[in-house]
Amino acid sequence: MGSKKLGPRDGGAPQGREIEMTIYFDNASTTAIDKRVWKKMEAFQFEEGYGNASSVHALGVRASTAIEQVRQKVAEKAHSRAQDIFFLSGGSEANNWVVQSLLQEAKKVGRLFHWLTTETEHSSLSKLVPWVQSSGGQVSLIHPV
Ligand SMILES: Cc1ncc(COP(=O)(O)O)c(C=O)c1O
Repeated sequence: MGSKKLGPRDGGAPQGREIEMTIYFDNASTTAIDKRVWKKMEAFQFEEGYGNASSVHALGVRASTAIEQVRQKVAEKAHSRAQDIFFLSGGSEANNWVVQSLLQEAKKVGRLFHWLTTETEHSSLSKLVPWVQSSGGQVSLIHPV
């Protein structure tokens, strides 16, 4: 997070006035929601009603239909197939899911899962190291200089 007072010499505030501006430099860890997404979510939350997308009642079916439409749109943008797009709760779940899936897949086809990772990884990954090692995988820790 960086903060700077802007004055006229910065091309910021008019003569005699200063404005404060904040720049967030950690967008990789969390990112503000896009206003268009917020508007859509708001409608589901407060106006149109929400429902568990796994339920068979009308609100659930509507939620499920909306999710599938979004999955299709994301797939098109990513030049992918809808069935290959997964929505997860966040980075930790995604990291766990990928590493565990790859290890299980390697085991299924009789191959060694050899994971190259770094000592400075996010804890959601570094905490997986003992689990991978005790589950038959191999881990090489790279030491960043
Ligand atoms: C590289 C990395 N992986 C995983 C996470 C965890 O993400 P979440 O808080 O969404 O579980 C973060 C969050 O800071 C991160 O920076």
